[in-house]
Amino acid sequence: MVQIINKHILQSFFKMKVDLMNETIPLFLPDITNEDKKAILETLNKALLTDGPKLREFESSFAKFTGAKYAIGVSNATSALHLSLLANNVGKGDEVIIPDMTFVATANAVIHSGATPVFVDVEMNSMNISVDSIKEKINKKTKAILPVHFAGKVCNIKQIVKIVKENNLKLIEDCAHAIGARVGKNHVGTFGNSGCFSFYPTKNITTIEGGMVITDSKEIAEKISLLRNHGLTKTLSQRYSKGMPWDYDVIQSGYNYRLDEIRSTLGISQLKRIRKLNQNRKKIYEYYNKKFKNVEEIITFPSSEKEEHVYHLYMIRINKKSKVSRDKLFSKLLKLGIKTTVHYKPLHKFSAFKKFIKSNNKFNNSNQLYNEILSLPFYPNMPKNHQECVITSILKILEKGNKK
Ligand SMILES: Cc1ncc(COP(=O)(O)O)c(C=O)c1O
Repeated sequence: MVQIINKHILQSFFKMKVDLMNETIPLFLPDITNEDKKAILETLNKALLTDGPKLREFESSFAKFTGAKYAIGVSNATSALHLSLLANNVGKGDEVIIPDMTFVATANAVIHSGATPVFVDVEMNSMNISVDSIKEKINKKTKAILPVHFAGKVCNIKQIVKIVKENNLKLIEDCAHAIGARVGKNHVGTFGNSGCFSFYPTKNITTIEGGMVITDSKEIAEKISLLRNHGLTKTLSQRYSKGMPWDYDVIQSGYNYRLDEIRSTLGISQLKRIRKLNQNRKKIYEYYNKKFKNVEEIITFPSSEKEEHVYHLYMIRINKKSKVSRDKLFSKLLKLGIKTTVHYKPLHKFSAFKKFIKSNNKFNNSNQLYNEILSLPFYPNMPKNHQECVITSILKILEKGNKK
């Protein structure tokens, strides 16, 4: 091990162990302020609790924030992806290329649309979808590419846009991890036909459950607004504003994928401090990276000077030189009260998705990453002593492993 753990670190390690006896270090804690709570209580006193002014306000602030013409709030990112695929006329008989390394929701949304997901390998250094693997999988049935901006790092979007144009495909971006990520002035989600965001509690801002689609296409925006509300021609407030409330039409069988007023209120309040929250993430990310930089057993994922990274997760790779395996490190940290996890088990390994795998599929990188990656406790307001404790514990465990 290149990094020598000195006496001082050892002393603080044992002190921290004692500090931790009654405490665990969580993987993540959402940032809910008193202002958020106050705003929610105010909305709770209103008569209209869904499909009302707070949703419209959240949508317009999100559109402004991302620079998209339209933003449509929905119940979560899975429904955002599902409706984006439907609104882009992706369905039965079509293939949609997605990364093998993502949360299952990306694949499920494709399957719910009636299309077939085609899993492709990811890049080793960013865990983002591999452009070469995309090229290999394009055929006559390919209708769309659905990349994920993994862990908040923008994927190779310029190359993907080029492929999409050359092959006349649809581009739907899964931006669940990437609220605030930009390439130059362009926010993720604006490079193709639509972009889908998640406000799940672990995401860069939260509405607890919640999602958003952004698009520059009026047609797509209208289709999604219709489909999120059962296919009804009127919203709740329109139904009671004039005429007879029951006199609406259903022009397409839709879904109940609405985002309510309480969640929208939380979204408005959280969005106001997204830049600060992302800056805090960057600071902690860079601190971890600095501390793990010269550790032989650890491979880190680099940060970025530009806003093309919004640091959704902090992950390390435990490389082959380590005498302590990733699983062993996970268990030892857990014993100390430090929660860690793996993002994610590759899609091709799940029983429900086996039928989509062909014998010539190669997932060398996602397989290797799956054995090596570990996500560490990481969130915008993570206390410094918890950061130190995670770092010191990992260094100590790795050093002890080397001595055996
Ligand atoms: C990459 C990715 N896509 C989609 C989703 C689905 O998000 P939601 O929980 O809002 O449906 C997630 C959720 O964690 C995700 O990580």
